[in-house]
Amino acid sequence: MTNMIAENDTAALDLLLDKVYQDGGHDFRGYKHGTVTRRLERRLHATGARTYLDYIQFLDAHPEEYQRLAEDLTIKTSGFFRSPYAFQQVARLVLPELVAYKRKKGEQRLRLWSTACARGEEPYSIAILLAESLGQRLKDFDISVYATDISQQALKEAEAGAYSAKDVTGLTATVLESYFTHYGESYVVKTDIKQMLRFSYFDLTSNMGVPFTDLDCIFCCNVLIYLQKTLQEKVLKTLYDSLATPGYLMLSEVETPTNNLLEKLECLDSKARIYRKSGGGEHV
Ligand SMILES: C[S@@+](CC[C@H](N)C(=O)[O-])C[C@H]1O[C@@H](n2cnc3c(N)ncnc32)[C@H](O)[C@@H]1O
Repeated sequence: MTNMIAENDTAALDLLLDKVYQDGGHDFRGYKHGTVTRRLERRLHATGARTYLDYIQFLDAHPEEYQRLAEDLTIKTSGFFRSPYAFQQVARLVLPELVAYKRKKGEQRLRLWSTACARGEEPYSIAILLAESLGQRLKDFDISVYATDISQQALKEAEAGAYSAKDVTGLTATVLESYFTHYGESYVVKTDIKQMLRFSYFDLTSNMGVPFTDLDCIFCCNVLIYLQKTLQEKVLKTLYDSLATPGYLMLSEVETPTNNLLEKLECLDSKARIYRKSGGGEHV
């Protein structure tokens, strides 16, 4: 396998990624090459292609391969409350400030966005966190948790909201009982949590502009790490433009983007990577 890939040079990879974008509609050109090539190896192996050029020919003959490739290139590893510390800090630092601000302004809408929602664990965790933190006050708010991703397969599973016992390991018995219904082998998210969620396809790297504006809170976790620096900066600009003032941005602990935009945001927790966009006089 290693020899096979060694025959593929960067020019052929660029050609292949251009083709996947032009003919397949999936843009992986700005992703880190290491991840892309490791994942591509699997598709080459599965299709019997020896080189990227062979694989390009395979794509021409089997257009359904574009979707398989896109699914293989997207890494969907996730988990409920994946970073417990970050969620704890959102509950401690962000939600009280946000709720106080909304109260002061007499606003009921709370709009949050899970930008790479994978199979739904992150947006459902956000909704559960809101339910836990707001308690009786939950009904005072009109809440939307937008959840987007580029994996159609992941979005379908996220919408179903059904998880295996392994998926929900780590959730307490109380959380499971309060927010999930146990049917046979599955734990299904209850309707009052599900109804806060709005799932849709959105490619963070696209040139389509911002899909939402005036958002209170954005989670962009474990996705920037797959992108090259220039693309990371483009995505962060989209997120910045989507935020309200005040608005909060959560990156994951593994991400260390050091760009101009982060200089415009105030860091509330450097470990959890929680940032606030503040405007003149808008602080709570
Ligand atoms: C490792 S998962 C992260 C899931 C979740 N945010 C978390 O932190 O647990 C990465 C997700 O990013 C999605 N993704 C990759 N590129 C994307 C893009 N350009 N736009 C939106 N989602 C993308 C993948 O499909 C995958 O579901």
